[in-house]
Amino acid sequence: MKRILIVIALAALAFSCTSQDPYGYVIKDNKIVYNVPPRPADQQSMLGFKCDPIENVRVGFVGLGMRGPGAVSRFCYIDDATVVALCDLFEDRVESAQKILEKHGRPRAEGYWGEEGYKQLCEREDIDLVYLAVPWQLHTPIAVYAMEHGKHVAIEVPAATSIKECWDLVNTSERTRRHCMMLENCCYDFFELTCLNMVQQGLFGEVVHVEGSYCHNLEPYWDQYQGDWRMRYNREHSGDVYPTHGIGPVCQDLNIHRGDKMDLLVSMGTDAFKGQETADSRYGKGAYNYANGDNTSTIIRTHNGKTILIEHSVVTPQPYSRMYQVQGTEGFANKYPVEGLALGSAVPKDVSIYDLDAEEYMSDAAREALMNEYQHPITKEGGLAEKAKTVGGHGGMDFIMDYRLIYCLHNGLPLDQDVYDAAEWSSLVELTEVSIEHGSMPVVMPDFTRGEWNKTEGLSFAMAE
Ligand SMILES: NC(=O)c1ccc[n+]([C@@H]2O[C@H](COP(=O)([O-])OP(=O)(O)OC[C@H]3O[C@@H](n4cnc5c(N)ncnc54)[C@H](O)[C@@H]3O)[C@@H](O)[C@H]2O)c1
Repeated sequence: MKRILIVIALAALAFSCTSQDPYGYVIKDNKIVYNVPPRPADQQSMLGFKCDPIENVRVGFVGLGMRGPGAVSRFCYIDDATVVALCDLFEDRVESAQKILEKHGRPRAEGYWGEEGYKQLCEREDIDLVYLAVPWQLHTPIAVYAMEHGKHVAIEVPAATSIKECWDLVNTSERTRRHCMMLENCCYDFFELTCLNMVQQGLFGEVVHVEGSYCHNLEPYWDQYQGDWRMRYNREHSGDVYPTHGIGPVCQDLNIHRGDKMDLLVSMGTDAFKGQETADSRYGKGAYNYANGDNTSTIIRTHNGKTILIEHSVVTPQPYSRMYQVQGTEGFANKYPVEGLALGSAVPKDVSIYDLDAEEYMSDAAREALMNEYQHPITKEGGLAEKAKTVGGHGGMDFIMDYRLIYCLHNGLPLDQDVYDAAEWSSLVELTEVSIEHGSMPVVMPDFTRGEWNKTEGLSFAMAE
């Protein structure tokens, strides 16, 4: 009997250390190492991918809860796009979104509802882009269905909840030659865009360390998610389940898969002190063991020797923060809790010497002057910054994102964010959970470009001639 048990234990150990799963991992030299499945012969890289220009982009929206209707409204301000279909689980939500179109003098769209209404929407011949704002677990299955039916997809964050789903997005996009963009709106906020421009102009020297986070007390919102999907997800998973607002903008600063790549990740979470209290008060004491730590910190080291710190914290009372910090050999920028810039004396412009202490933030006046000077070129195009502030959506960044998506499709340009961004940023959902489950073991991150991470020279935003 004892012998049989030993054999079973050894077999189990062997299984845990050698993964047959093409999307799984093995444990090697005390590290979790993810498999990178070879690219099937019928697929091609999507790096720099562009399609023929689309005169008017016909859009179908799926998911009209708290987030979706705002996007419908924003699209009414974009000339080169038409909302042709609306879909939700509930008919009344579709009808409310129709009212948004009517209010803007736009024609009513075709409505779909029910669990599988999205299939009819994706099967239509007259849709170019499917825009998803559904619960996280539905992002990848619906996006894959849409791409399989010839549609480009734009997916709310995070685009995927597992490594298998990340590969599903990459493989489907590569095989169907359809764009797959994650709607990471925080990449388009004014401070982040301006800092990105400063990074690219060399103001910070070599960027060595960056930070980002999603610190947002969701207490007022838990009851409002359809079917309690968000609390359920947080209740059942440890790790950084919502990493992309933090990681997106700073990966752009580091040219991830455009000259550098994320190599190694370590994640650590607190216990669920407040999380358990929240679950107990919602469902009854002890009904669930709440899995998600009150705070999760993740450190990532890149191939080129840079580090990234990411945090997630959504149950404790605290001021909203996405942290956003850039530390370079010549300067520093910080967005939360106060916007600040500190630059060394290497600044090329006529900034007063008193503002170049580099041990302190420069004065507000000097910062504002520099921020104006380095306003990102995409926000200058056609008065986009001003229009975005009027249309709104998190202060305008949501509109800049939607505008750029349609601008690139309309002009036949590569999109600002590609499917590899979506996969890399979303992959943290599973990778952080697996690291934590193994006592914060380092994770060797999968390379979704399959070795092509240094083929593109730096991040650029495509502009029409
Ligand atoms: N980028 C941002 O700043 C931001 C902000 C808020 C939410 N989000 C993201 O937007 C997404 C939606 O979040 P939310 O806050 O609107 O949640 P929500 O629960 O309010 O809305 C989800 C909607 O999807 C619908 N739905 C569910 N199953 C469906 C199906 N099978 N077919 C069609 N519709 C279906 C629901 O009925 C609901 O109306 C999430 O991914 C979230 O992370 C992003």
